[in-house]
Amino acid sequence: MPAERLNRYIALAAGVSRRVADEMIRGGRVTVGGAPVFDPGLLWDPSEQEVRLDGRTLVPVREEKIYIMLYKPDNVVTTMKDKEGRKTAPALVGELSSRVFPVGRLDFHTTGLLLLTNDGDFAYRLTHPRFGVEKTYVAKLMSVPRPSELNVLRRGMPIEGKMTNPATVHFLEKKGDRAWVSLRIAEGRYHQVRKMFEAIGHRVTKLRRVAIGPLELAGIEPGEWRYLTAKEVKELNDYVDRRAAETAGQGPPPDALRREKRFETPGERARRRVAKRAIAEAALKKQAEKVKAGEAAKAAERKKTRRPKPGRKKGPPAPPRGGRPSRH
Ligand code: URA
Repeated sequence: MPAERLNRYIALAAGVSRRVADEMIRGGRVTVGGAPVFDPGLLWDPSEQEVRLDGRTLVPVREEKIYIMLYKPDNVVTTMKDKEGRKTAPALVGELSSRVFPVGRLDFHTTGLLLLTNDGDFAYRLTHPRFGVEKTYVAKLMSVPRPSELNVLRRGMPIEGKMTNPATVHFLEKKGDRAWVSLRIAEGRYHQVRKMFEAIGHRVTKLRRVAIGPLELAGIEPGEWRYLTAKEVKELNDYVDRRAAETAGQGPPPDALRREKRFETPGERARRRVAKRAIAEAALKKQAEKVKAGEAAKAAERKKTRRPKPGRKKGPPAPPRGGRPSRH
């Protein structure tokens, strides 16, 4: 059996939160193999040594899987911790018997449906692009988009040099010069929805996620959460299975094939040419230096191995051959 952290084990077996488990351990109420332990983070093998709480043996239990729907409010980060001390989505749920983490991300200012779980496999299936799980958003726009502009989102469009997959788009409402539009996408690039609207000339002032696959945000208000029902978990799992089957064997996702054809401005072209020339010159210089160094090494080698000419001795220079002896 793999090693476990003592506080996690106590929390599960005694049905208390980790914080309470920590207090129990620090308070000397827990023994491992008969000896008291005080370190909540102790790693030990449950199959090797018995754990007791207040003298009573704790029976190992299987970790309960937790699935939570949170209505993420504005101004909350979707991480476990925040260096800047901002409120986090897991903190809104508080202490449970097992630590839950967010499934995917929502921006600081995006509100709506966020799932939290302790089931890594479930989270993986819902977030990995391979499964193409669709997410539905409602965006409030600063201006009213034309049908032709919404068609751009429907067809797929370049965002930072990469095509988006076609989106399902519905114009919902117009109030004065503001509009509400729903958008369903099966991708999750950084700020994707905001960037898509920005690219067709409309600023998003509010963004709310209202569904993940078949699961809709319902029954809770911003900041509130509830457990998913067994039926909802099953429906989500069945949906992911269907999506995986639909996308299997289709090769790479369409966006990988539909790279944006991008035209350069004259300034960009000039800069690119200068950079290209500089790279080519640097490569040539390097090559020349390499050749020169190679030649120098060869010359040094030749000099080292050169033998003196036979018959030549050190001493005064030999008289010119065939010349007459000097009269001196
Ligand atoms: N797209 C965005 O722009 N923001 C989100 O939070 C989610 C999707």
